[in-house]
Amino acid sequence: MSYLLALDQGTTSSRALVLDRDGQVKGVAQQTFAQHYPQPGWVEHDPTQILATQFDCARTALARAGVAASALAAVGITNQRETTLLWERATGRALGPAIVWQDRRTAAVCDRLREAGHADMIRASTGLELDAYFSATKLAWLLDHVPGARARARAGELAFGTVDSWLVWHLSGGALHVTDAGNASRTMLFNIHRCEWDETLLALLDIPPALLPRVVDSSGVCGTTCADVLGAAVPIAGIGGDQQAATFGQACFAPGMAKNTYGTGCFLLMNTGTAPVTSTNRLLTTIGWRSRGETCYALEGSIFIGGALVQWLRDGLGLIRRAEDVEALAASVQDSEGVVLVPAFTGLGAPYWDAYARGTLFGLTRGTGAAHIARAALEAIALQTVDLVAAMDRDGAGPLAELRVDGGAAANDLLMQIQADLLGVPVVRPKMLETTALGAGYLAGLGVGMWSGIDELASHWRAERRFEPLMAEDRREAAIARWRRAVERARGWASA
Ligand code: G3P
Repeated sequence: MSYLLALDQGTTSSRALVLDRDGQVKGVAQQTFAQHYPQPGWVEHDPTQILATQFDCARTALARAGVAASALAAVGITNQRETTLLWERATGRALGPAIVWQDRRTAAVCDRLREAGHADMIRASTGLELDAYFSATKLAWLLDHVPGARARARAGELAFGTVDSWLVWHLSGGALHVTDAGNASRTMLFNIHRCEWDETLLALLDIPPALLPRVVDSSGVCGTTCADVLGAAVPIAGIGGDQQAATFGQACFAPGMAKNTYGTGCFLLMNTGTAPVTSTNRLLTTIGWRSRGETCYALEGSIFIGGALVQWLRDGLGLIRRAEDVEALAASVQDSEGVVLVPAFTGLGAPYWDAYARGTLFGLTRGTGAAHIARAALEAIALQTVDLVAAMDRDGAGPLAELRVDGGAAANDLLMQIQADLLGVPVVRPKMLETTALGAGYLAGLGVGMWSGIDELASHWRAERRFEPLMAEDRREAAIARWRRAVERARGWASA
C-alpha cells in the first residue's frame, strides 16, 4: 500500500498521476475536454465530461503504472476552483452546466451588490473581493435559471459543489457530499475566520443551506471510493483546490514562502500561517489548507490571463506555431522597444479587479515586429506578478526572499529570467514541476500517515534552477512605471 493516486481536474484538462512514497511519478494520463462559450463572457463545462475524463485518466494512469487500485494507500483530489455545479441528490445527475470560474455572466449582479454596499461585509467574512469569479453568484444564477431549482433546493433534493465535491460524490457512489476548507473559502459563502458557511451571505443570495457540502480537512480520511469506480475501496484522504495544492506541493509550509503558477492564469499564493492577513491592497485572504482542525491561511493574487497570452499569440495572432516557440521569438530582440501589452482580455484580476478593462497594446511604431510583441507578452505576464508582490509588500506580508514557480510557462527560461529581473527577487524552479498533483498526493499521503509530517515533505523539495535578478534598478523601475501607465489606460474600456 505504498502508492497514491492524485486526480487533478483542471480548467482545460483532467489528469491523473500515480505517485510512490518518494513523490516520484509512476504513471500519468491526461485528457482535454470541451470548453463551451455559449455567449460572450460565458464559459461552461459539461459535468458528465468532467467525470468521464477524470475517471478514465485515473484508470489509465493506474494501468500505465502497473499498480492495482487495491495497492493504493489513498486518493487525493485537486481541482479547478470556484467552478460551480448543482445536482440532484437522488440520481447524482447535474442540473445545468458547470459554470466555470472564468465566466463573467454574473458581473452585473456583483455590481448591484456593490452598489448596495455589501462589498466590505463580504471581504470581512470571506476574505474575497466581491467578484463574478467566485461561486456564490454563479450558484444563485443556476438556482434562478434551472426550472424549479430553488424550491427543490429548499426541500433538500439538490446539492451544490465545486469540482472537488462533484468528484468525491461520484467517487464515493453518492455517499459523500463534502468539500475541503480551502475550496469552501473560494465560494464567497464561507466565513474564513469562523470556518463555517455564512448565514448572512446565504440569505443575501437566497441560497438554501440544505444545498451545501460538509466542510472537511484538506488532509485526512473523509471516506472511501466506491469499488465500482476504481476497482477497489480506497481512502479519500486529500482534497485541495489546485492553487492550494500547488502551494503544498512546493513545500511552502512556512509563513512568508510563496509560489506562482504560470498556467492559463497566474496564481501567486503566500503562506501567512495560522492567522489570516487582511489585505488592504485588494489581494485575497484565503484558506490554504486545514489539517487536524488547524487552518493555514494564504494571501493570494489571481491573474486571469497568464500562459493564455502565449496561446493567443499562437491561435489569435498566428505569430508562433507552437507555444514553446515564443521563447526564441522573444529572445530575438533585446527588449520590447517600448511596446507594452496589457492582457486584460477578461478584465483584470488582482490587484485591480476591473471587469471592464480590456486588452490593449501600446507603443507601436513602424519598427515594431512580431518579436517585440512576443517580448511584451512575456513581460506582461511577469509585470502582472510584480503588481501582486508589490501589493503583498504593502500588506506587510513580505519581503519575499524567493519565488517558487511552476505551471507550463515556468519551463520558459526567458520568462523566468524576465520575472526575476522585474521582481528584483530570485525565482526558483523545482525539479518536480507537477506540483499541483504532488500537493494532492502529499495531502492524501499525510492524511493516511504515509509521512511523519510536513518537515519530511519539505526535505523532498529540490531546486532545478535558480534565476537571479540581473536588471539595473533604474531600468526595472522605468519598466514598472511604463506598465502602470498602460494599465491605467486599459481600465474601464468596456464600460464606455
Ligand atoms: O481559480 C481558478 C484556478 O483554480 C484555475 O486553475 O490551473 O485550472 O487554470 P487552472
